[in-house]
Amino acid sequence: MKLNGQTIVLTGASSGIGAEAAILMAKRGARLCLVARREEQLREVQQRVEAEGAYAAIYPCDLSDNNAIEACATRILAEQPQIDALVNNAAHSIRRPIEQSLDRLHDFERTVQLNYIGAVAMTLKLLPRFLEQGHGHVVNISSLSTQIPIPLFSAYLASKSALESFTRSLQAEMGHQGISTTVVYFPMVRTPMSSRTAIYKYMPMMHVKKAAGWIVEACEKRPARIARPMGKLGSVLLAAAPGPITKLPQPLFRGMDQLLASRLKKKG
Ligand SMILES: NC(=O)c1ccc[n+]([C@@H]2O[C@H](COP(=O)([O-])OP(=O)(O)OC[C@H]3O[C@@H](n4cnc5c(N)ncnc54)[C@H](OP(=O)(O)O)[C@@H]3O)[C@@H](O)[C@H]2O)c1
Repeated sequence: MKLNGQTIVLTGASSGIGAEAAILMAKRGARLCLVARREEQLREVQQRVEAEGAYAAIYPCDLSDNNAIEACATRILAEQPQIDALVNNAAHSIRRPIEQSLDRLHDFERTVQLNYIGAVAMTLKLLPRFLEQGHGHVVNISSLSTQIPIPLFSAYLASKSALESFTRSLQAEMGHQGISTTVVYFPMVRTPMSSRTAIYKYMPMMHVKKAAGWIVEACEKRPARIARPMGKLGSVLLAAAPGPITKLPQPLFRGMDQLLASRLKKKG
C-alpha cells in the first residue's frame, strides 16, 4: 500500500518515535493528522512535515480524557473526508517495582487509561468511517517486553498486553469488513520516554529513526506483527513454557541493571 495521498491519524506525534514517523511518512507523501497534548511541539512537527511538501493538521488532545478524545475524533472526522489509518502510538511508561506500588493503584489506572482505553476510544470513534469506506488500518504500538517478560514495568506492560488482545479481537471480528491491524513490538528505543530512566543512559538501544521506519512499514505493508526475531522466539517460548520463561531470565535482568548502574556511576 503506497502512503502517497493516504490520510493517517498519528497519536503521540509531538515527540520521540511518533514525531520521526510523521516526518518519514511525510517524505512518502502521506497526509498527517498529528495528535498529542503539547500544541507547540505539534506545530514544530507540522512545520517539519510541511517542509517535506506534505499536509499536516494538528489536533491537541489529552488522550487520557475520554471526553477530549470524543471531541478530537469528532473534529478529525469533520475535517478529513477520508482516513486510511490510525496509529495509536501515544503512551506513558512507568518503571516501578510492584512492591513499591502497594499504595499506588493510580499508576495502573493511569497507564491503562492512556495506553489502552485512550487507544481503544480513538479506534472506536474512527471505525464507523473505516467501515463506510470499506477499509481502514489500525496500528497499535506495544513492546518487546510483552514477548519476553521483564521486571519493573507491570502497569505499563499490562496496558500494552490489553491493547494487543484488543487488536487481535478487532482483526478476528472485522477483518472481513476491510479492517486490518498491526501490532508493533518495539525494543528499547532512545527517546524522551526511555531517557527518563537514568541507568539506561549507556544501554544499547534502537535509533528513533529506525523505530519510525517500523511504523511506516506497518502502514505500508500492513503485517499482523512487526517484531524482532528475539521477540517472536520469546512469544513462542512464553506460550510453550510460561513458568521457566517468566522465572529464568530474571537474574539476568537484575545483573544488567547492576551493570548499567555501575557504568553510570563511573562515566556519569
Ligand atoms: N522508547 C522506548 O524504549 C519504547 C519501547 C517500547 C515501546 N515504546 C512505545 O513507543 C511509543 C512511542 O514512545 P516514545 O518512546 O516515542 O515516547 P515519547 O517520546 O515519550 O512520546 C510519547 C508521546 O505520547 C504523547 N502522550 C503522552 N501522554 C499523552 C496524553 N495524555 N495525551 C496525548 N498524548 C500523550 C506525548 O505527547 P504530549 O506529551 O505532547 O502529550 C508524546 O508525543 C509508545 O507507545 C511507547 O510505549 C517505546
